[in-house]
Amino acid sequence: MTIKEAKIRVDALRKVIEEHNRRYYVESAPVISDFEFDLLMQELQGLERKYPELVDPVSPTQRVGSDLSEGFAQVAHRYPMLSLGNTYSEGELREFDARIAKAFDEPYEYVCELKFDGASISLTYVDGMLRRAVTRGDGVQGDDVIANVRTIRTIPLQLHGDSFPKEFEVRGEILLPHSSFERLNREREQQGEAPFANPRNAASGTLKMLDSKEVARRGLDNFIYYMPGNDLPFASHYESLQAAREWGFKVSEHTQKCGDISAVISFIRRWDTERKNLPYDTDGVVIKINSFAQQRALGFTAKTPRWAIAYKFKAEQALTKLLSVDYQVGRTGAITPVANLEPVRLAGTVVKRASLHNADQIALLDVRVGDMVYVEKGGEIIPKIVGVDAAKRSESLPPLQYISVCPECATPLVRLEGEAKHFCPNESGCPPQIVGRIIHFASRKAMNLEGLGDETVEQLYKNGLATNVGDLYSLRKSQIARLERMGDKSAENILQGLENSKNVPFARVLFALGIRYVGETTAKKLADAFGSLDALQSATAEQLLEVDEVGEQIAKSVLAFLGEEKNQLLLSKLREVGLRFTTDAQERISNELEGLTFVITGTLSRPREDWKLLIEQHGGKVASTLSGSTSYLLAGEKAGSKLQKAEKLQVKAINEAQFLELISKKNNV
Ligand code: IVH
Repeated sequence: MTIKEAKIRVDALRKVIEEHNRRYYVESAPVISDFEFDLLMQELQGLERKYPELVDPVSPTQRVGSDLSEGFAQVAHRYPMLSLGNTYSEGELREFDARIAKAFDEPYEYVCELKFDGASISLTYVDGMLRRAVTRGDGVQGDDVIANVRTIRTIPLQLHGDSFPKEFEVRGEILLPHSSFERLNREREQQGEAPFANPRNAASGTLKMLDSKEVARRGLDNFIYYMPGNDLPFASHYESLQAAREWGFKVSEHTQKCGDISAVISFIRRWDTERKNLPYDTDGVVIKINSFAQQRALGFTAKTPRWAIAYKFKAEQALTKLLSVDYQVGRTGAITPVANLEPVRLAGTVVKRASLHNADQIALLDVRVGDMVYVEKGGEIIPKIVGVDAAKRSESLPPLQYISVCPECATPLVRLEGEAKHFCPNESGCPPQIVGRIIHFASRKAMNLEGLGDETVEQLYKNGLATNVGDLYSLRKSQIARLERMGDKSAENILQGLENSKNVPFARVLFALGIRYVGETTAKKLADAFGSLDALQSATAEQLLEVDEVGEQIAKSVLAFLGEEKNQLLLSKLREVGLRFTTDAQERISNELEGLTFVITGTLSRPREDWKLLIEQHGGKVASTLSGSTSYLLAGEKAGSKLQKAEKLQVKAINEAQFLELISKKNNV
């Protein structure tokens, strides 16, 4: 086959495969078997392998994603991505309609659509090929997340037919259906990672991932709901959506033209109930003027179009029976009362448990076991109890007694000033606190200990193999392999994970320790500010308070943690096994630049921070202004006035190559 012939075949295969993708994913009506589909895909993959020059990002073979992270380019939106004015009341909706009616002497009609609850996206197609996929960002510019968007099979990479404009944009919502959301959270919990609070957060988090292979796995979906532009070949929004559907986009079938506001209100009332049966989250209805000419006449305010409005549904509630209350002990000892409920369907999932927050909340609601209670899904992961149906209470229900001792270790609970929650103070003897700390240590954002999920940690603890995170590093293969559902292979994995954790940067080690109030960001700030555990250990409260975002509470907590003998023992053990307790900057490679001070100027081949790090790693210092005591001026292109100043001060100016020579005398840098 000549390359010319190959190209013809490749183009044909891509078109056919995209069409089958659309039939399968968008229409749920495939016309060929999976096997036949795989054959087509294999042929295309074979040709692309043989003729790499034919590889194109819009090929369906690219939908599997890649784990090469490219970062995201910031892209300005051609038309700003505005939000919508919104309302919760039918009255305000009628006022909106009255404003529209006043603006026109002619008839007008609305289009009603579901308001999908996900992350908005702007897609640009050039010659029918997907070329850009930009997040909303700040509305003016966003991130180009095209590598991730390509993995979403309901988004066409190449359009169908030939009636689309040469270059145009569509907008829509990327969402995570309930089934994918639940699977994802199950997996995360098994791996000791924090679950996502709701499908919207999961969708926008997924869209911003650097690893598109993981994105491909998560099962994102989308709906297209808007085509911006002034020179489109349509007279109305509804027509533009029909065309979009024909070109291969997924447009919701629950889109309806409404002749007047009463029809709009019936649509809303219908969907306020029916949305409960949809496999994805919706949070309202969007009402748009259909005619493009009328849309243009109404125009935009600074933030929102005047021709559209969102009617938001009230959060869904369900009524069910409170069966009992459990008290959970977190890794910090905080107690959370959790209600066990008679299972009930709410916003697409079955709810069996709900948070009761704390003792005050229980008292406020006067909720009792046996009550019929209202549950609502807020932004959080577990639903909450928001009220009691007092009319349904039988007289004899006794008030709920809050616990006074820890349900796990029977230690009397304490309630600190200013804290809403009760705490179990038995840090070193209370099992869920011990296990919780180890789970936190092992979690992805901390030490990322592969193979060490919640259940394994639980087993290690129960078998007396780990009572603190230091013990993990003394584990032997045979000890792990003996545990339930473990074997040699998984034991090796765990040991390898522990070995790998010795390269985890200091900031994450600090976060992994689970010092109260020291989250990921604070840990990073502390690590950057102090550079090493030694420096942190000798820091005073004042020095801690100087760090960005560190207040009294954090400083106190850090000092208390570092001051405790058992923590000091743990830290020396972790240091001994080889965890990193210094930042990169503190890690000396040589003393070649000892006593030398550098000033950096001009445009260099790498970011200034990289040069600064390199100088410090070789014992040198970096200053921001030139003076008589500057040793060298490291000057890139367009160095400007600093060069003259250096000359005056008799400071030697060197370029990148000369600098590298300085440090490569003894080291092979
Ligand atoms: S139209 C200029 N239609 O809601 C009009 N938006 O609060 C652009 N959304 O940022 C938006 N479903 O992310 C439109 N059917 C729908 C929608 C929808 C969800 C989101 C979108 C937008 C936000 C506005």
